[in-house]
Amino acid sequence: MNFRQDFPIFITNPNLVYLDSAATSQKPKVVLEALRYYYENENANIHRSAHFLAEKATVAYEATRQTVADFIGAKHKHEIIFTRNATESINLVARSWGETFLKAGDEVLLSKLEHHSNLIPWLQLKEKIGIEIKYLDIDESGQLIFDESQITEKTKLVSLTGMSNSLGVITHLKPIITKAHEVGAKVLIDACQMAVHSPIDVQELDADFLVFSAHKLYGPTGVGVLYGKSDLLEKMPPFLGGGEMIQQVFEDRFIAGDIPNKFEAGTPNIAGVTAFKAAIEYLNSVGFETIQKQEKALTEYALEKLKALPYLKLIGPQGMKNRGSIISFTIDGVHPHDIAEGLSQKQICIRAGHHCTQPLMDYLELPATARASFAFYNEVEEVDKLVKGLEEVYEYFNQ
Ligand code: ALA
Repeated sequence: MNFRQDFPIFITNPNLVYLDSAATSQKPKVVLEALRYYYENENANIHRSAHFLAEKATVAYEATRQTVADFIGAKHKHEIIFTRNATESINLVARSWGETFLKAGDEVLLSKLEHHSNLIPWLQLKEKIGIEIKYLDIDESGQLIFDESQITEKTKLVSLTGMSNSLGVITHLKPIITKAHEVGAKVLIDACQMAVHSPIDVQELDADFLVFSAHKLYGPTGVGVLYGKSDLLEKMPPFLGGGEMIQQVFEDRFIAGDIPNKFEAGTPNIAGVTAFKAAIEYLNSVGFETIQKQEKALTEYALEKLKALPYLKLIGPQGMKNRGSIISFTIDGVHPHDIAEGLSQKQICIRAGHHCTQPLMDYLELPATARASFAFYNEVEEVDKLVKGLEEVYEYFNQ
């Protein structure tokens, strides 16, 4: 099946080899049309005015909430909070839940794989109230080493990625979640990468919080999702204050509204949220079975070709076991930035750098890696172009 035709960017850039979907995905035409449709037909502010247009906009916005709830198997649509991005979603939990329910000495367990979005909010909380931060170690393939003794009565939150954006490792979460709940700790899952590649059922996973961004899921930028169990969200104070999040305001106090509005202060990204529905519907129409089949085939093929380059070193999983369609690597004698720059000249887009995981890079004793990430719209020919491009870059720097 050729999905490229669904994505206008590949029509305007016919030679584009886009292997940076882990940073942000390309957008299908239906999403661009939904954005345009909203502005041309429904544009009004939501939850405020009584006129018919505001009603239309509100219905469209709220319809996405239901679609997202269904997409991740949430029990209630009010358990879905729209934010600007996954980073804001984690900040919301850290500031609202963390500042209210944690105290000095309480432990938050992260892992060495986490990206900055799932590190800095907790480091800020450490600075502010003196929580302790612990890290699950990783093995040579990048998989979490689950040492049960790291989860104790002092552990109040375990916050982990479901798939590493740097190494592509798919983490084993279930036993960790079970153990966390045994000691009464809450669990936050960073599903930024995981949500793109596999179906999620938050109830089956028993996640207390789960976050992801629309822009990696073929939707618009500027829309993030926070899922939270309703009993938790109800007890949490608002994160941002302003219009929309209140029930009543007086000169000297306010009464916060109910969830989800309590956490959606100000005019949100109405167009983006509305169009996100089209993205999820598109994704559902392709289906995870097809997505996984195509991404697996591409990753398997790419690994085989890349392993044949003697000067290339894979970082993270060496094979298909526990890996998604993200491949990190280094090349002897060529800085990852030069690899990306060299490929860019051939219209091949990969990401190079620390991938917002500086502590992980320090742990691996690497300044950076080059990272190719595949989506179901990529094709085998693009892998061939990547490999040829890498051969040429290597030759250029090592002649
Ligand atoms: N977290 C995104 C990435 O891995 C931005 O590129």
